[in-house]
Amino acid sequence: MKPAVLITKRIYPEAVDLLRSRFEVDYEATDDGMTAEQLRERIRGKQGVVSQLTDKFTRDVLATLEGIRVIANVAVGFDNVDVAAATEAGILVTNTPDVLTDTTADLAFALMLAAARRLVEGHHFVHSGEWKKWAIDLLVGQDVHHRTLGIVGLGRIGQAVARRAGGFSMRILYSDAFRASEQAERELKAEFVPLERLLGESDFVSIHVPLSAATRRLIGAEQLRLMKPTAILVNTSRGPVVDEGALAEALRGGVIGGAGLDVFEQEPKVHPGLLNQPRAVLAPHIGSASVETRRKMSMMAAENALAALEGRRPPNLLNPEAWERRSEKTA
Ligand code: GLV
Repeated sequence: MKPAVLITKRIYPEAVDLLRSRFEVDYEATDDGMTAEQLRERIRGKQGVVSQLTDKFTRDVLATLEGIRVIANVAVGFDNVDVAAATEAGILVTNTPDVLTDTTADLAFALMLAAARRLVEGHHFVHSGEWKKWAIDLLVGQDVHHRTLGIVGLGRIGQAVARRAGGFSMRILYSDAFRASEQAERELKAEFVPLERLLGESDFVSIHVPLSAATRRLIGAEQLRLMKPTAILVNTSRGPVVDEGALAEALRGGVIGGAGLDVFEQEPKVHPGLLNQPRAVLAPHIGSASVETRRKMSMMAAENALAALEGRRPPNLLNPEAWERRSEKTA
């Protein structure tokens, strides 16, 4: 009998076709997403799941899944899956790294530029017909070039942002749980500093850490107070890394100068203090949203599921321990 796979939400059609060519596919071709109960129900009798970041595979949900061999997440972030619990349950978990690195870095830069140069305010100003004359200080903003950029998390996406910043002749500071290699620091001209110093010296702070217990609310009221009153905070990582209420308050009170946000604590809800706040440029979690990249992510997840269900090690495996344990069992 062919293995059966659940695709929990709409993905690019070529990825569905690939899976259909080998497996029984139960395709939820909507953008609705599933509750824990719906996930449990639809997964029954399946061996693989192609999931998205809105599907929450908590320890409790994982404990009730029987026969599932792989969860192939269509995202680089995997905070929606309790990987430790999946490993204990012998479930392989995969993600879609690399293909979205430059696309996401582009969006971080777009948010930085848009917030600094008041692009969205300008857009509304023109569209609403308010633009009547040119003035010397009409919508004046801040320069990005030759300023200091603080990168929180110098992983793949953080490094891609640093490379773009080089083109803008920016000074680059970074903080991270792990220091980058000397070669990377030299190539990116990035200086490793403690987070407090980064926050105090940067004109722009861009966040690129994964969400974990250690990074949840990494940026709260105390950290925002360390920033310059003109500084702009950009977040394209995960919403809960920033305390959204504290950020809304900091923007309202002029503690910092602006924000460019692609991610939120309780998507698609946005803190009311951020809505209608002209200093905040907001996007609906579209960091990796180019046609090419989203197509590649869909294909990558399908290929990861395919490999796992055909007994091959998936290319983007997050829990090799689960694979090793499985290989031991079959040896
Ligand atoms: C998107 O947020 C991703 O993690 O790929």
